[in-house]
Amino acid sequence: MKQAGRFLTAVCLGAGLLLTAGGDAHAKRFKIAVGDAHGSAQHELGKKFVEVFEAKTGGKHKAKMFLNGQLGSEQDTVNEAAIGTLDFSILAINNVTPFSPTVGVFTLPYVILSLDDAVKLTQGEVGQELVENTIRDAGVRIIGWTYTGFRVLTNSKKPVSTLEDLKGVIVRVPKNEIMIASYKAWGINPTPMAWSETFTALQQKVVDGQDNPYLTVHSMKFYEVQKYVTNLRYIFSIEPLIVSESVFQDQKKDVQQAILEAGKEATLHSENFLRESEAAIKKDLIAKGMEIIDPANGEKEWIDKATSAVWPKFYDSIGGKDKLNRVMTVLGRDTVK
Ligand code: MLT
Repeated sequence: MKQAGRFLTAVCLGAGLLLTAGGDAHAKRFKIAVGDAHGSAQHELGKKFVEVFEAKTGGKHKAKMFLNGQLGSEQDTVNEAAIGTLDFSILAINNVTPFSPTVGVFTLPYVILSLDDAVKLTQGEVGQELVENTIRDAGVRIIGWTYTGFRVLTNSKKPVSTLEDLKGVIVRVPKNEIMIASYKAWGINPTPMAWSETFTALQQKVVDGQDNPYLTVHSMKFYEVQKYVTNLRYIFSIEPLIVSESVFQDQKKDVQQAILEAGKEATLHSENFLRESEAAIKKDLIAKGMEIIDPANGEKEWIDKATSAVWPKFYDSIGGKDKLNRVMTVLGRDTVK
């Protein structure tokens, strides 16, 4: 998508940039699409962003969140933001990867092994390069990061600890090639499906299971339709706040500055929110009847199968094996030969 085309479209359509009632021709109301529900990590990040952004613009500009995928599926919101018909979106990184393949390095199984790893990568040089790639490839700018925790596997059918147990479980995955390949490496064919359709599919037993972090399982009330949790650590979920690049470029310098600063403050808030809330949320899921199972043998067979089959398959799309090795070096881990 060419930059010039996007700028023109945004200027013409003016998307969420409606003039506020009350006469100030320059005051804006920005729309923020949010994939998840009230109380989710995405919602927490968004709330902080709105609060700081509005304060920094002296209340002149407003931003409003639309939760639960009201503005479209997470992947659709990337398209909308790219052409400037949507201002902001908060969504899982795996739903950005199809538009900007190099961010796939954050979805490769067992690369990010802790919250500290996630913070180090997103806020350092690697993160900055991926922000630039995403502007170039997808026409959207990442201005903040939600840290949501490891994606654990849930299902309604049976306790799953080994790959043998996984057989016969129908698992929904995002439309993300890396995640599809991970489940294939584990011996099953997953069902790719938009996030916005997932709860109903679990409820109607079109699929038996899915994976998402504890915070998401809780805020989306998956405990109503899922019983078993396998405590996997294959992907640490990071969920960027993106702004349409054309909308961003259309703003005055002080508004751009307020957007960037609010994104930074919201990111810090998200990190603290995860640290403070995850343990209690896990406890509450157990109280609500979920059974948490650890993968057998320290997850060894899951790790071995996913890393050996999936990593080499995606070296090209993430920009080469060197990119993965740069990440490994930043994280103080052994590089891949
Ligand atoms: C997905 O599974 O598609 C996403 O992780 C959902 C989300 O944004 O929480």
